[in-house]
Amino acid sequence: MIDLRSDTVTKPDKDILQEALEAELGDDEYGEDPTVNHLQKKCSQLLGFEDALFVSSGLMGNQVSLLIHNTPGSEVITTSDSHIKNYEHGAASFLSRVQFREVEHENGIINIDEIATTFEKSKVNKPNIKTIAVENTHLASGGSIVPYEHIKNIYELSQELNVNLHIDGARVWHAILQEKSSLNYGSVCDSLTFCFSKALGAPIGSMLLGSKEFIKDAREYRKILGGGTRQVGVIASMANKALDKRQRLLEDHLKAKHVYMDLVDKKNENVEFNVKYQDTNMVFLEFENNQIANKFIEKLKNQKVLSGLINKNTVRLVFHKDIVDDDLEVIKEAIYSSS
Ligand SMILES: Cc1ncc(COP(=O)(O)O)c(C=O)c1O
Repeated sequence: MIDLRSDTVTKPDKDILQEALEAELGDDEYGEDPTVNHLQKKCSQLLGFEDALFVSSGLMGNQVSLLIHNTPGSEVITTSDSHIKNYEHGAASFLSRVQFREVEHENGIINIDEIATTFEKSKVNKPNIKTIAVENTHLASGGSIVPYEHIKNIYELSQELNVNLHIDGARVWHAILQEKSSLNYGSVCDSLTFCFSKALGAPIGSMLLGSKEFIKDAREYRKILGGGTRQVGVIASMANKALDKRQRLLEDHLKAKHVYMDLVDKKNENVEFNVKYQDTNMVFLEFENNQIANKFIEKLKNQKVLSGLINKNTVRLVFHKDIVDDDLEVIKEAIYSSS
């Protein structure tokens, strides 16, 4: 099977597994795992934050951030289709007891004026807004990049408004590498999570970054959520190796682009979808309705290509390291004969 459902399906390469065997270990609950400590320091230095905390998942990083940045009953501004709002099993209402306020966006880019207006309108009879959550890359828009400079502008506004800016950067390395932007995210937000367990190719783990004080609180919440672990350097060692290989993500962008360009070139060949590519590792095919989209997924599956449904009529194809060049021909053939 060629699995394009997500970039979370990647299996760790042998060199990554080898790291786990050789990792120096200690008890991380005592702060004594050298491999974890090394990775946390490396990530905070790379991205310009004071401190970092290795967490089990992207969800844990996002939700710990919301617990710290908010008070029960407060609001988080985000896009209507963000992961933190829609795909985290109601964790924000369950744990932080916050609600979300949706703001309009284009490809994950929230209009600055729209944020300012939302705050203005919230002065009377509305909950306190305590956090703005930006997703980069923006999954529901096809893995689109929120430009670094735009995030910087949102951060400036968030400081004027005295609220926190959290970045769900599950795939932030795709944005950084593709945009060739500054790595200095520490100066444009209050907290950021990114995942090692997606396209980077590690089996487990995410990093949460912020100020020293923020990470001190995050360590406390991670424990409360059952995320305190012991010789976790076994996992951090693999995450570290996956991070070192991050330049490879650009190859996934090229694989997605290759399929996208082919579909665009052959558009007159009776295909019944609109195709979307946002410069990273995803191709979205938008069908007329949910039924047609589901039928297409079934037909692809019969040709040994797995795809996923996002929104009700959009099929997503996510390219990652386990898709090899020869697979691209099979994928294109399967798409043409299924549409
Ligand atoms: C944009 C985004 N944020 C957060 C997450 C959550 O990550 P995890 O599955 O590691 O909890 C995901 C997972 O796919 C994601 O796509």
